[in-house]
Amino acid sequence: MTSLTRRELGTMAIALGASAMTGTSTRADPAADERARATEQQMTDDERFAMLVSVMGANFVAPSRDPRIPAGLPMSAGYTPGVPRLGVPALRSSDASLGIANPGYRADDKGATALPSSLNVASSFNPDLARSGGQLIGREARSRGFNAVLAGGVNLTRDVRNGRNFEYYSEDPLLSGVLGAAAVTGIQGEGVISTLKHFSLNCNETNRHWLDAVIDPAAHRETDLLAFQIAIERSEPGAVMSAYNKINGSYAGNNSYLLNDLLKGTWGFKGWVMSDWGATPSWEFALAGLDQESGCQIDRVVFKDEPFIAPLRRACAEGKLPRQRLSDMVRRILRAMYAVGIDRWGAAPAVDMAAHHEIAIETARQGIVLLKNDGALPLAADTTAKIAVIGGHADEGVPIGTGSSAVSPVGGYAAEIKIGGSHVLGRYRNLYLVPPSPLAELKKLLPKARIEFDSGQSPAEAALLARRSDIVVVFGIRVEGEGFDYPDMTLPWGQDEVISAVSAVNPNTIVVLETGNPVALPWRDRARAIVQAWYPGQGGAQALAEIVSGRTNPSGRLPMTWPENLAQTPRPELPGLGTPWGTPTTIRYDEGADVGYRWFARKALKPAYAFGHGLSYTRFAYRDLDLRGGETVTATFTIANTGERDGADVAQLYLTDAAGDDRVRLLAFERVALKSGESRRVTLTAEPRMLARFDIGAGRWSIAAGKHRVAVGRAADDLVLNGEVDLPARVFGV
Ligand code: BGC
Repeated sequence: MTSLTRRELGTMAIALGASAMTGTSTRADPAADERARATEQQMTDDERFAMLVSVMGANFVAPSRDPRIPAGLPMSAGYTPGVPRLGVPALRSSDASLGIANPGYRADDKGATALPSSLNVASSFNPDLARSGGQLIGREARSRGFNAVLAGGVNLTRDVRNGRNFEYYSEDPLLSGVLGAAAVTGIQGEGVISTLKHFSLNCNETNRHWLDAVIDPAAHRETDLLAFQIAIERSEPGAVMSAYNKINGSYAGNNSYLLNDLLKGTWGFKGWVMSDWGATPSWEFALAGLDQESGCQIDRVVFKDEPFIAPLRRACAEGKLPRQRLSDMVRRILRAMYAVGIDRWGAAPAVDMAAHHEIAIETARQGIVLLKNDGALPLAADTTAKIAVIGGHADEGVPIGTGSSAVSPVGGYAAEIKIGGSHVLGRYRNLYLVPPSPLAELKKLLPKARIEFDSGQSPAEAALLARRSDIVVVFGIRVEGEGFDYPDMTLPWGQDEVISAVSAVNPNTIVVLETGNPVALPWRDRARAIVQAWYPGQGGAQALAEIVSGRTNPSGRLPMTWPENLAQTPRPELPGLGTPWGTPTTIRYDEGADVGYRWFARKALKPAYAFGHGLSYTRFAYRDLDLRGGETVTATFTIANTGERDGADVAQLYLTDAAGDDRVRLLAFERVALKSGESRRVTLTAEPRMLARFDIGAGRWSIAAGKHRVAVGRAADDLVLNGEVDLPARVFGV
C-alpha cells in the first residue's frame, strides 16, 4: 500500500475537490459509459474475472501456448477473452512504440514498418509526424487483428544512461505530452486502443522491479506526471500502463495516490490501468487502482503461485474487494473498447506498406540532428571525392533498440548479432540491423564519389583507409535497450579510438552517431561535422544519405540536453548500477522539476549541445517580438529564412524568469518550414501550467503576479528575442 504522509493525504482531498470544481480532463462520452454499464451488468463473474487478466503469447517465459489463447491466433504481448454473447471482442495487444513489435512471437509475420526511435520523432518537434506514425501503427495493428497497442512512452529522459530513452520522447513535459498525445490520437483514430506508459517515473532500467524512484511530489506533478496529464487530456488513451518501479515507496501499480486519486480522480481518466508485464505481486493492487494484470505468466515466475486473479476472486467472495470495484475494473475496459470502437470493426483497410515506408523516411529526415558542421556538410551530390565509410556496420543497416519494442521489418533484419549481458534479459540483447545500409544509400546519392568501406574493427586499419581518402564518414553505434542502463557515455568496442584515429589522419571527418542517448564526444574538436541519427528506423539510411548529400536540409533539434559528461548531470553515480538483478535500489530524482535544460540553467553549466539545438544548411533570423499577457503569455514574432536553401526551423518560446524566480521552462514550440527568402509571422501561446508552480499543499497550479521574462530562441542556450510581460496572479486546478 502507499505510504503517504498526513500532509499528502490532506493534499489529495484538496486535489479531489479541485477536480470537482474545475472539471476533469477526459471528455464525456455518455454513450460509452452507459454501454459499459449495461454490458457489465449482464456478465457472469467468470466473464468479469477473465477480463481482468491478459495472457502473454508464447515466448521465452511461457514457451508453450497458454490454453486460454484460442488455437490459431497469432501470438502477441497480450490476449484477454471477449464475451461473444454480449458482442464484447477479445483484447489482443501488441507492443508498438516504434511500429508493430515482434520480439520473436510470430515467425510467420511478414514484417512491419520499423519507425525511428521516439527520440528521433521528438527531434522533429512535429506533432503531425508523430500522428502519422501513430496512424501507421494503428493500421498495421489492425491488419493483424491487434486491437490494443502498448505504445505512448512518455517517461521523461532524466538520465542519459537509461536504456529505454529511445522509446521515450524527451526531457520536457510539454514536448513529451504533445508528441505522445499525437501518436495516441493517430493510433486510436484507426479504431485501435493505445496505452500511455509507464506511469510513472520509469526513468532508469536498473533493477526496475526493485527500484524505488523517489521524487518531491510537487516536482513530480510539474514534470513526469504533467507529460502524462497533457497526453491524456489531448488523446484520451484507452489505457495507461503502470510502471515496474515504486514511486516514493509504493509500487506504481499499487499507488493509490497516483492511480485512484490523481489519474482517475483529479484528472478524470475513464480508461483502465493495466500493469506492466510481471509487475503484479498481489490482488491488493486492485484496491489501489490497478484494473488489469498483464503478462500473468511472468507474475507466476517472479512471484510464484498465482498472485493476482485467483486471490482476487477469493477477496471478492470474502468481501475484501468491494463488488463495486470489480464492476468498475470491468467497465473501464469495456468503456475504452466502446469509446475507441474496437467492437465496431469492419474489414481491415488495406495497408499501403510503400506509403508507410515514406512516413518512416520523412520521420527520419525531420528527426536527424546536425550537431556540428564546420562547413564539411553537405557534400556536393556530384562529388568525385574518395570517401571512406567506416564502422557501425554501415554496410549492413542501421541499429534499433532492443527489448519489447523491437520491430522486425519487411524482409527481416539485415543482420542479428548476439550481444548478451549479465542480466535476466541479457540473452535476448542483440544488435539488430535494419536495412537498407547507409553505405548503399550513400553510394546511390553520391554516384560519382569513390566510396570504400572499412568495418572499423581496428583503429590502425581504419586509419589506413582514412589516410588515402578525401573525406571520412565514420559511424558510432550503441546497443541500448530494455532491462539495461548504460554504465557511462562512451561508445563500446573501441569506436572512440577508431574515430580518434581516423580524424587524426583525415581532417575531413564526419561522424555519424546511431545511439539511443547522447554519448561522450572525446574526438569532438577534430570532427568537422557530427550528425546524431538516433535509431533512425528503416527510412534512416536514405534520410541520412539525403542529409549528407544536401538533398534534405537537416531540421532535427535535440529533445534532450547533450551533457559533456556524467559529472554535469544530477547523478554522476547511478545507484544500484551493476548490482545483481533483484537488489533493492533507490534512485532519488533530486533534480525534481529541473530536468535537462532546467538543470543546466540552474547550475549554470554549459552542455556539449543544448536542448533544442540543431543546425541547418540555411539561416533563420528572428525579429519583431510582440508579447501579450493575461491568463497566459502569447508571443508573436517573425521568422525569416535568410539563407540560400529551403528549410525548417523550430521556434521555441521559453520562460526565463517568473516574477523574480529565475526559472527556465519551454512554454511553446512550432516547427516552421520556410522557403529561401521567405518569412512568416508566428504566434506561440504558452501552456499555462508551464508558467506555474504546482502547490502540493493547495492542490493547485499557481502563477505568480508580476513581470515574467520570456524569450524566443533556436535552442535553450540560443535565445534571440527577449521580452517582458506582466501577468496577474492566477490559481487554477487540475
Ligand atoms: C515493457 C512494456 C511492454 C511489455 C509487453 C514490458 O517488459 O516494460 O513496455 O509493453 O513488456 O511486452
